[in-house]
Amino acid sequence: MKLTAKHSELLQLLLWKLLTAMSFAYGCQPPTLKLTRFPGCPADPGSGWRSLQPVTEQQCAMLCAKQSWCAALSLDAASIADGIGQLGECRLFTAETALIGWNSSCGGQSGLASSDRLSSFQTEYLAARNVTVKRVHIPNNSVKIFAAFLQHQPAASSLIGCVAKCSELPACRGIVFNSSNCSLLTDYPLCRWFEQPPNSSELAVYEFHTVGTQQCFETVNLRVSDALSFDRLWAEYKTGFGTYHGNYFAGLEWLHARTSAQPSSNRFRVDLLYWNDTYIYAYYLNVLILAESTNYTVSEFTFEPGGGLHQNLFVDKNIQFQTRDRGLSTCSYGQNCAQMFQPQWHTCCHSSGPFGRYFNYPTALNVSAADRAKGIVWASNAPTNITDGHYYSFKQLEILMLT
Ligand SMILES: *[C@@H]1O[C@H](CO)[C@@H](O)[C@H](O)[C@H]1NC(C)=O
Ligand SMILES: *[C@@H]1O[C@H](CO)[C@@H](O)[C@H](O)[C@H]1NC(C)=O
Ligand SMILES: *[C@@H]1O[C@H](CO)[C@@H](O)[C@H](O)[C@H]1NC(C)=O
Ligand SMILES: *[C@@H]1O[C@H](CO)[C@@H](O)[C@H](O)[C@H]1NC(C)=O
Ligand SMILES: *[C@@H]1O[C@H](CO)[C@@H](O)[C@H](O)[C@H]1NC(C)=O
Ligand SMILES: *[C@@H]1O[C@H](CO)[C@@H](O)[C@H](O)[C@H]1NC(C)=O
Ligand SMILES: *[C@@H]1O[C@H](CO)[C@@H](O)[C@H](O)[C@H]1NC(C)=O
Ligand SMILES: *[C@@H]1O[C@H](CO)[C@@H](O)[C@H](O)[C@H]1NC(C)=O
Ligand SMILES: *[C@@H]1O[C@H](CO)[C@@H](O)[C@H](O)[C@H]1NC(C)=O
Ligand SMILES: *[C@@H]1O[C@H](CO)[C@@H](O)[C@H](O)[C@H]1NC(C)=O
Repeated sequence: MKLTAKHSELLQLLLWKLLTAMSFAYGCQPPTLKLTRFPGCPADPGSGWRSLQPVTEQQCAMLCAKQSWCAALSLDAASIADGIGQLGECRLFTAETALIGWNSSCGGQSGLASSDRLSSFQTEYLAARNVTVKRVHIPNNSVKIFAAFLQHQPAASSLIGCVAKCSELPACRGIVFNSSNCSLLTDYPLCRWFEQPPNSSELAVYEFHTVGTQQCFETVNLRVSDALSFDRLWAEYKTGFGTYHGNYFAGLEWLHARTSAQPSSNRFRVDLLYWNDTYIYAYYLNVLILAESTNYTVSEFTFEPGGGLHQNLFVDKNIQFQTRDRGLSTCSYGQNCAQMFQPQWHTCCHSSGPFGRYFNYPTALNVSAADRAKGIVWASNAPTNITDGHYYSFKQLEILMLT
């Protein structure tokens, strides 16, 4: 049916409280509704479902409430007089249609401004899904960092549609939306992106978390360049050093406090980046780092495989931390592993180097024999053309903890 000028004068209803009313959808009671009238707007924001025969406002609302996709409705009551109980052709719309259609054609109406209506519509729509949205801009060079976690969703053509898809997926942490393409960020910690420089505008990223997953990872240890030396003594490893979002270590005391506060409900994640820009990751659950009096012994952890990273962080349980000036490794001849290599929870000695020396490309692909095991190593994940994994030093390493 083609829209006429007359139709554009019709009574229009936007259903603000529909989602609250959904719980009544299959009950006998009519849903509790707050219908708002917007005279002057076109009745049809785009193609929508139409009732076969005229119905009342309440019947139309009930029809909408029974459809999970229905977020807005309009009632064509042109042919009948104003008044309660009037009949009209009922049209149902998805949030996407309503938002886009009414937005573009209802701008500048008298009364409630279009952008106000739409933003409150959007807010209510998202609130009903326990979603809070924050828009951030991320620098171009960060895109590849989470590129591996993007799930492209070619079908979604609006922000609302994109958010709806994300909110249906428990692992979804955020979306990347650029005018017509929607991508979901799944299973990746994003909190840190909230602090990216505001002037970079390559991509608009809308991040959110639902109530169910209102947690995010914070950085414990990050290695991105050789700009900061990690060859430091006990006192600094105790308190931590570096710059958050840059080369950084939160500190052993921090780790002790945080893990002992929730010894059986914490979750860590390790991300490693190869020099070919491929990411691997895995999780460590219920890590427990004991007090300084034990030399920050790692007493518990449970490894949980994820994206290919192997268990190399801790060689074993009940291992002390060791720097050049404190802590005991377990070498039978009493070697100081930290002196030979780097600080770490050493047995005799280690298979990973979160606190190792940062080697640049291409040296890092196969370090010299003298530098064996001194780098940002993760021995069992080195490329297969490296016979001894301790010769490959990674491009980036990050250890995160779920807050
Ligand atoms: C809705 O329209 C207004 C003005 O026409 C515009 O400023 C705003 O960005 C639009 N919003 C969306 C979500 O399209
Ligand atoms: C939203 O959160 C409330 C309170 O936490 C919860 O009762 C409700 O089931 C959640 N709704 C959805 C759609 O997850
Ligand atoms: C990001 O920057 C690189 C070089 O700085 C450039 O080659 C690339 O096209 C940029 N990508 C986007 C999406 O702007
Ligand atoms: C959306 O994605 C397709 C395929 O990746 C691409 O051809 C198109 O240019 C993208 N559109 C926008 C607006 O980026
Ligand atoms: C828009 O996003 C799609 C993936 O969702 C990507 O392939 C495309 O390059 C992006 N376009 C621009 C202009 O950033
Ligand atoms: C960021 O943008 C603001 C205003 O647009 C400008 O004053 C400021 O100098 C910019 N900062 C950088 C680092 O480009
Ligand atoms: C901690 O390390 C020091 C060596 O620096 C050692 O003397 C001390 O016994 C260790 N503490 C424990 C509890 O093993
Ligand atoms: C291993 O293979 C990669 C990719 O083919 C290559 O770039 C790298 O130089 C090789 N490493 C060594 C130590 O030969
Ligand atoms: C790596 O370097 C060592 C010398 O440090 C050399 O013996 C070995 O062949 C190199 N490995 C590869 C795969 O090139
Ligand atoms: C990058 O290197 C790693 C280790 O050799 C390998 O597993 C991975 O497949 C490589 N990625 C690409 C895109 O070649």
